Amino acid sequence: MARTKVSIPAWSSQWVFIMAAVGSAVGLGNIWKFPYIAGDNGGGAFVIVYLACIFLIGLPILIAEISLGRAGKANPVQAMRNNALNNNASKAWTGLGINGVIAGLLILSFYTVIAGLALAYFFKSLQGGFLAMDANEAQTLFNSEVASPWVLGFWHTLFMLFTLLIVARGVRAGLEKAINFMMPGLLMILLVLLGYATMTGSFGQSVSFMFRADFSQLTWNAVLVAMGHAFFTLSIGLGTMMAYGAYVGRKMSIVQASVWIVVMDTLIAIMAGLIIFSIVFANALEPGAGPGLLFQTLPIAFGQMAGGWVFGSLFFLLVVMAALSSAISLLEPAVSWLEQRGRYSRAQATALLGAFTWFIGLGTVLSFNYWESVYIFGERNVFATLDFLTSSLMLPLGGLLIAVFAAWTWQKSKRAEVLYFSNQLFQQFFDTSLRYFTPFAVLVVFAFNLALGWLWTSVILIVGIVAYLGYAWRCHQAQAG
Ligand code: TRP
Repeated sequence: MARTKVSIPAWSSQWVFIMAAVGSAVGLGNIWKFPYIAGDNGGGAFVIVYLACIFLIGLPILIAEISLGRAGKANPVQAMRNNALNNNASKAWTGLGINGVIAGLLILSFYTVIAGLALAYFFKSLQGGFLAMDANEAQTLFNSEVASPWVLGFWHTLFMLFTLLIVARGVRAGLEKAINFMMPGLLMILLVLLGYATMTGSFGQSVSFMFRADFSQLTWNAVLVAMGHAFFTLSIGLGTMMAYGAYVGRKMSIVQASVWIVVMDTLIAIMAGLIIFSIVFANALEPGAGPGLLFQTLPIAFGQMAGGWVFGSLFFLLVVMAALSSAISLLEPAVSWLEQRGRYSRAQATALLGAFTWFIGLGTVLSFNYWESVYIFGERNVFATLDFLTSSLMLPLGGLLIAVFAAWTWQKSKRAEVLYFSNQLFQQFFDTSLRYFTPFAVLVVFAFNLALGWLWTSVILIVGIVAYLGYAWRCHQAQAG
């Protein structure tokens, strides 16, 4: 087996690993995106579809991805190379790792811009900047924050620096320390805000908005959005979990950790939704306000409520911490890859990749002002193009490849060395999901997201299914023979 030139670190405990993975999963996806897509898609029924995607598709891929990292014992590129060599498979499987490294940097490039905005709002709130704010003023505030590329770029830069400082210090001194500090803080703030939400008088309305399912409201598009978001929110399909899995020791249980990660991520998304919608309803605001929900709606509420200064600051601090623990995990696959190639130290690798990603991020900064209507792909500006390319194409593609490798290419005996289920039923569910649900779901997402009309959608679906069955059949024969 090909070795990397640098020794691979290890998490100091199973618990730290779980916290780091939860930290990666819980981020802007939970607090910013989930509430607004749930709001846009009518609540209840969407939430149920989302939960189904998380447990039926997300959990098995998460388990598979972490296991592939532990089996390959390296950064995602090298890990997939090792896994391919070990299973007599094509070296082309390294492509899965490369796809992830690139997608991670691309996501990070816009992630730090949105997270930077949350950082700016945190300081605004601390200075009492939301006091007695009405809808117009909230709109004006948002517009003024994003209108200047210098201001937005400043916060993007600051947040990027935080990320780089942590990643440069390595797994134990950087990632673990930050996680140990941030995750308890995050949970505490969340509980305080949830307590506050129950006292707004609109908590019941918020609960029924999130859970009362009216399936007549559900559209096909909502199903696609839910599926795509399941990948994003669990940090799967990109190699983040593979990189983190490489640091998992032999004795730790991947299945148990994965169940924790999925349950925590889901609970936190739901709590964030309940908090935000309680505030929204208590102030007679619109739940379907789109991406601006967090930045244009909540400051009004914080400006009107008693103690809004404290709760507003806590809320945006929560967003910043959640985003930071995710940002480091977006950079880790690329940094570990460059470091383990042996030419650069970890600090150098972080600086190089950070500078590159920061530069790409300027495209997103400009997408909020000068380049707002400079369309790259369809009617999408730079930001929307990067988001579409990664969330709708590269992540599902990564997820599909992980599922195919784990379900077909990975030899049973090799897999058993790193992944064991104590429960037969669960094992069967895992195999079925990776073999049939995931490929089908991802193909559907692809075919529809490319939105080329019915003819092309059908062609993509049919070609995809035939190619998939052919490959599966060949692996099946090889393993049997
Ligand atoms: N899951 C994080 C969120 O919800 C974002 C994230 C971190 C991510 N690492 C990832 C998304 C890897 C996809 C792949 O905000």
